[in-house]
Amino acid sequence: MKIAIIGASGYAGGDLIRLLLSHSRAEVTCATSRKLAGRPVETVHPHLKGYTRLNFENPALDAIDVDLAFLAVPHTAAMTYARPLLDRGIKVVDLSADYRLPREMFEQVYGVVHTDYFEAPYGIPELHRDEYRSADFVSNPGCFPTGATLAAAPLAPYAHTIIFDSKTGVSGAGDNPSATTHYPNVGDNVTPYKWTSHRHLAEMRREIARINPDTTCYFTPHLVPVNRGILTTAHILLREPMEQEDVEEMYRRSYDSEYFIRYQTPVLAAVRGSNFCDLKAESAGDRVVAISAIDNLGKGASGQAIQNMNIICGFDERDGLRAPGLLP
Ligand SMILES: NC(=O)c1ccc[n+]([C@@H]2O[C@H](COP(=O)([O-])OP(=O)(O)OC[C@H]3O[C@@H](n4cnc5c(N)ncnc54)[C@H](OP(=O)(O)O)[C@@H]3O)[C@@H](O)[C@H]2O)c1
Repeated sequence: MKIAIIGASGYAGGDLIRLLLSHSRAEVTCATSRKLAGRPVETVHPHLKGYTRLNFENPALDAIDVDLAFLAVPHTAAMTYARPLLDRGIKVVDLSADYRLPREMFEQVYGVVHTDYFEAPYGIPELHRDEYRSADFVSNPGCFPTGATLAAAPLAPYAHTIIFDSKTGVSGAGDNPSATTHYPNVGDNVTPYKWTSHRHLAEMRREIARINPDTTCYFTPHLVPVNRGILTTAHILLREPMEQEDVEEMYRRSYDSEYFIRYQTPVLAAVRGSNFCDLKAESAGDRVVAISAIDNLGKGASGQAIQNMNIICGFDERDGLRAPGLLP
C-alpha cells in the first residue's frame, strides 16, 4: 500500500516514517515538506539515513497518488487536505485536532473557524475500534487525552470527578523552537502551563462523558525535561469506595485482551519509542489513583495513527508497531 505523509519533516511525521519502515504492507512513497522540498529526508531525520531514499516534496494535492495519507500538520492545515484527498479515494488518518471535536466546540476551543467540517470517528482503538473499522477517515486523538482517557476509562462509570495531572516531554510541542522549549528553560526544571484551560481538556471531557455524562473532569499539564513521554496521574473520585481487587478486576476486564495496554507500574522509559500504554491503579477507598505512561509520539500520535491505519485497512493492528520501548 502506498502511503503519503503530509508534514513529514516534523516530529510526528518523522516517527511515522521510522515506524512504517517495519510495516509489512505499507510503504511511504510521498513525504511532504514545503520548506525542505527537494532535500533528502535525512536532512532533518538523520536517524533515517540509509533506511530511505525519499526526498521531501511539495506536490499539488491532485498529484498525490497513494492509497492512504497521514496528516501530520498543524490544526487548521489538516482541514485543507482532508476532503480533497478523500474525494480522490485516498483514506486519511489525521493527527491534528481538526476533526476531534464537534464543530462548535472545535471553533470555541481553538478560536478559529472550521472551513471544511465533517463528523469523524475518534480513534482510540481500545474504546472505539468497532465503530470505525470500515471508515475512510479517522481523527487520531490528542496525546494527553489518549493517556488520560485510557487511565480513567475502566472506572469512569463509577466516578463523579476525575482530576488529570500530566507531565509531558518537550517533543509534544513540535519541532518549532520557542522560549518555552529553549533548553535553559526546560532543562533541570518543571513548568506547569495552562493550569485550567488546556485545549485537550475538551477532548478528555467529551470522551469521559461518552462513558459517564455525570463525571466532571479537570486537567493540569506540566512540562518536564525529557524528549518523549507523558505520565498522567488520574485521581478518580468514586461515588462509593472500591477495594483494590475490584479495581484491578475492572482494569483486567477492560484491557486484558489489549496488546498495547500493559497493566504494570508506568515509567516513561519503558514505553519510549513504542505504541504501548502502561498503566496501573491503586485504591484509597473512594479515591483511586490510576497512572498511565505513553510516548506522546507513539501511542500519543504516530503509533496510534498506524494502529488506526491497520484497523481501517484490515491489517494486523500490531503491524509496524512491534518494537518494544527503549529502557533505559
Ligand atoms: N508532537 C506530538 O507529540 C504530537 C502528539 C499528538 C498530535 N500531534 C499533532 O500532530 C501534528 C504534527 O505535530 P508535530 O509535533 O509533528 O509538528 P511539527 O514538528 O511542527 O511539524 C509540522 C509539519 O507540518 C508541516 N506543515 C506546517 N504547516 C503546514 C501547512 N500549512 N501545510 C502543509 N504542511 C505544513 C511542516 O513542514 P513544512 O512547514 O516544511 O511544510 C512539518 O513537516 C499537529 O497537528 C500536532 O498537534 C503532535
